[in-house]
Amino acid sequence: MFGVCYYPEHWLQSQWEQDAKMMADLGLTYVRIGEFAWSRLEPNPGEYNFAWLDDAIATLTNAGLKVVMGTPTATPPKWLIDQHPEILPVDPDTGRTRGFGSRRHYDFSSAVYLRESMRITEALAVRYGKHDGVVGWQTDNELCCHDTALSGSALAKQAFQDWCRQRYTSIDQLNSDWGNVFWSMEYRDFTEIELPTGAVTETSPAHRLAYRRFSSDQVIAYHNPMVEIIRQYAPGKFITHNFIPMNETGVDNFALAAPLDFTSYDNYPLGRTDLLLTGAPKEQLMPYMRTGHPDFATYYHDQTRGLLNRGFWVMEQQPGPVNWANNNPRPAPGMIRFWTLEAFAHGADCVCYFRWRQAPFAQEQMHAGLLRPDNTKTEAWSEAEQAMAEVTALDIANQPLKPASVAIITGAEGLWVSDIEKQGEAYEFNQVQLSYYSALRELGVNIDFISVDSDFGPYALIIAPSLPMVDQVFVDKCQASSAQFIFGPRAGAKTSEFGYPATLPPGLLQQLIPIRVLSVETLRADCMEGLCWNNQQYQSGSWCEQIDARESEILARYDNGEPAVVRQGRSTYIGTLTNREFLLDFFQQYCQQAGVPTFRFGENIRVSQRGDLLFAFNYSAEPQTMPLDKEAELILGSAIIEPHGVTVWRS
Ligand code: GAL
Repeated sequence: MFGVCYYPEHWLQSQWEQDAKMMADLGLTYVRIGEFAWSRLEPNPGEYNFAWLDDAIATLTNAGLKVVMGTPTATPPKWLIDQHPEILPVDPDTGRTRGFGSRRHYDFSSAVYLRESMRITEALAVRYGKHDGVVGWQTDNELCCHDTALSGSALAKQAFQDWCRQRYTSIDQLNSDWGNVFWSMEYRDFTEIELPTGAVTETSPAHRLAYRRFSSDQVIAYHNPMVEIIRQYAPGKFITHNFIPMNETGVDNFALAAPLDFTSYDNYPLGRTDLLLTGAPKEQLMPYMRTGHPDFATYYHDQTRGLLNRGFWVMEQQPGPVNWANNNPRPAPGMIRFWTLEAFAHGADCVCYFRWRQAPFAQEQMHAGLLRPDNTKTEAWSEAEQAMAEVTALDIANQPLKPASVAIITGAEGLWVSDIEKQGEAYEFNQVQLSYYSALRELGVNIDFISVDSDFGPYALIIAPSLPMVDQVFVDKCQASSAQFIFGPRAGAKTSEFGYPATLPPGLLQQLIPIRVLSVETLRADCMEGLCWNNQQYQSGSWCEQIDARESEILARYDNGEPAVVRQGRSTYIGTLTNREFLLDFFQQYCQQAGVPTFRFGENIRVSQRGDLLFAFNYSAEPQTMPLDKEAELILGSAIIEPHGVTVWRS
């Protein structure tokens, strides 16, 4: 299914009917509206104006479209901020209040804003909850986008003190858990606790971890009641949220997603590629400048699907140049169709394009839509049309999502630890996780992203690229499972309060693999050294652990002959960051041993499976020949896959 993001409040009412007709003619089913319209819905305090929205919904539904209603809470209006300036969040790094004039200018610790958000949500839910044409809801918009999970406000500080009181029960416990005897940081009472901001040099990592956990809980405590209100007044309607990249929310996305019916993702492959490759050599960016990096879109699709382990939506799909990256190229011809098929191959149930028509005013006037401001169709239009026809012809919607054979364990704690304790400039949670994902995807392996709480049952191979905190429940689950486990460096390296395990890292994981990490060195990213595995030379660097292998088997060694990768039973531990070639070869061997099929068709081809359909996506500007089996039944494209093309076959 397909949809579009539409802002009726941006256009003359006389234009709506034609817009709706064109949407329906294009074959769209859903229209998401409303998510920034607070100043029009409540122009003055308590004075609601729903007439225009009633008309907009009627116009859209009369054309046969279904409406997804967004709550407008990402944009509190000026009068509300003037009434309650304490709603504004404070930048924790600079101490500066983040002002009115864009969006997301609210503090998750403001009780007033929580109340006001629930009031406007209830007003909308009461009015449209049972409206037949409003089939589902989107909460807020891109929670935590623009670095808004954390606030350094007085309200946040007070709420943090209360949160600490709940978690640690006594101030002595907190002092001991945080190691506050160090540098005379001890507190006498919870009311003395500071936010870990604005200090001379680094604050205690345990303090910062508590602040991240607290901030995550605040986001969830803000979001959950919104879902409850919509549920109460809109029974039977779906509720979703449009996530940004999981690492950028900075919060526990599994917990955030828990009350939703399904998750959604806003997919901007070129913007993301430009930002993720900021500062990378041009040789890395240029091949993918107009296609997006082969793994960046699906990396987030797979994570979005994983949050609830079910089909997801792309709520916003890039249609052309965006306005917010360092540089904003046009997609190569065919990429809108390509990204659309790719999303479906990775479990999307619906793709909505952002936006219907480019706005000729305000912040996003340089951002493309399906239509230009003069109402002419952009290239995205015909590509979306083509994708819709193909998705229907392939009957993708009826291809069931099966669990993958390989899972990656992810979670917010790995991100928090890596943000808080840098140790080396080259260790970065998202890069480490992405490098593992990328290697597996280059092997054509489907991946499920799971949490430590997920069922391990379906998986032959479970990989934890960055899992610094584990508990006994996790270790017991690993022991009870029959999967192979691969742990990346830093696994089990921290206690739950950011301490060093008394038995040395990997702490509790020593029950699975009885090694000791004696020390860690970090090296400049461009100072790689050797790694020898299977009599072949690879690279090791950035993060290198000195390992006492004890009785475990040594699989790979550093240049100096010391162990770098070790195995005991079903558990393998990689004590260093390596290069792409190593991860590819190493994971390929593990997949083969675990009976997981691989398709290593080259660095620009990605193979994905949905149901019994196999998709190959060619990210290069050259045709590529795939060594498909003779039995493969081609149903779209050919074994010579065209530049930026897609081939689909049945296995
Ligand atoms: C998204 C956001 C939209 C719009 C879009 C532009 O992050 O949800 O409202 O700003 O980016 O690409």
